[in-house]
Amino acid sequence: NQTIETEETNLPIPPLLKDHNDDPNKAEFHLTAQNATKEFVPGKTTETMGYNGDYLGPAIRVRKGEEVSVKVENELDEITTIHWHGLEVDGDADGGPHSGIKPGSSWSPEFKIQQPAATLWYHPHPEQETGKQVYKGLAGLFLIEDEVSDRLDIPKEYGVNDVPLVIQDKRFNSDGSFEYNLGMHDVMNGLQGATMLVNGAVNPLLEVPSGMVRLRLLNGSNASVYDLNFSNNQSFYQIASDGGFLEKPEKMDNLVLGPAERAEILVDFSDLKKGEMVRLQNKGSEFMKFTAKGKSQKDFTIPNKLTTIEKIEPNQAVKTRDFVFEGMGPTVNINGKQFDMDRIDEEVQLNDTEIWEISNESGMGMMGGTVHPFHAHGVQFQVLKRDGNPPPANETGWKDTVIVNPGEKVKVIATFKYPGDFMYHCHILEHEDAGMMGQFRVK
Ligand code: C2O
Ligand code: CU
Ligand code: CU
Repeated sequence: NQTIETEETNLPIPPLLKDHNDDPNKAEFHLTAQNATKEFVPGKTTETMGYNGDYLGPAIRVRKGEEVSVKVENELDEITTIHWHGLEVDGDADGGPHSGIKPGSSWSPEFKIQQPAATLWYHPHPEQETGKQVYKGLAGLFLIEDEVSDRLDIPKEYGVNDVPLVIQDKRFNSDGSFEYNLGMHDVMNGLQGATMLVNGAVNPLLEVPSGMVRLRLLNGSNASVYDLNFSNNQSFYQIASDGGFLEKPEKMDNLVLGPAERAEILVDFSDLKKGEMVRLQNKGSEFMKFTAKGKSQKDFTIPNKLTTIEKIEPNQAVKTRDFVFEGMGPTVNINGKQFDMDRIDEEVQLNDTEIWEISNESGMGMMGGTVHPFHAHGVQFQVLKRDGNPPPANETGWKDTVIVNPGEKVKVIATFKYPGDFMYHCHILEHEDAGMMGQFRVK
């Protein structure tokens, strides 16, 4: 598990996927999951998977109110699915393990976008194979815009001052390849690698306009919790969490981002002199550089209000459910049960509001324990309590994934507005694949 050294490369920006429908209220996209090869290190090739390309996929951008259809073709030689992580849609369109696409066939879900502007993502979800397929490269961004994101005076030029960063870590062999082979440590903690990738590039450099820049961060790793900051310790403002804008920007010096979590941040690069560099680092180790170009633009003001989030009050909840995450490695489970495709674990009434209490009781005592990022499909929730206390400010917006540290209990509240069968699980993909997943039916 060595860090791969390469020359710096320009940061690749995932292309925006073409909309094949001319009707402004409709969108039609085409995605193909395919096997490929890629050189992460020049001259060294590895086998990958990608959507419409050799690694990761294009960014899908839609507007609130749009009717969307996506034709997903499977050119892999194994079953896959495509799940819209964070999207509020009916169970039929959600793309969980029940929506398998056989090799050589396709799936065409349709859904209407009814939630606020947000940075979501898509990735495969086949039973027991999610970890491998995501690790090999199947993932992409799914961006929603709306009247609020239109109105806000924030950077919006995609790939220029509004830049997506899909952050992942890989374990490379010395020949430049990576495989999905789980050792004992990976079975326990999920697959973590020493080499960081951003948008599929090792050691990337991004030249940004000298001013305020918006970064849309996705932790697209299988299992790693990142703690991100800048090498010069400059602070930044978080403006959005998983499900959309926060009510107001939160000034921070570092950002903890668990697997599948997203954050949008505003970073002021106007003091960066020509030729100077700032590095983005994870727990002190640098993995990406920024330089600035053009005349320094200092006249930018951070909006003091972003949006209004209607708080779901605890007294609106008609039910409280407990989810206890337990076990280690192959025994990981929720409430004593491992995933069964044919079993519905929880039944929720359509339009009900519920409180879900998630506790992490894995490996307490002797073994130190492991984090479990909790995720539920088809719904955005609000965090009420983290270990008995109000959540930190950057967790007060819409969330679909929340870190639950060893010994912690996190309380969330949600209104279930979409019918169908959905998954809830740990987003350490090796835990999910080992069975740390259950199903809820909304009807
Ligand atoms: Cu990112 Cu079950 O999903
Ligand atoms: Cu999901
Ligand atoms: Cu877990």
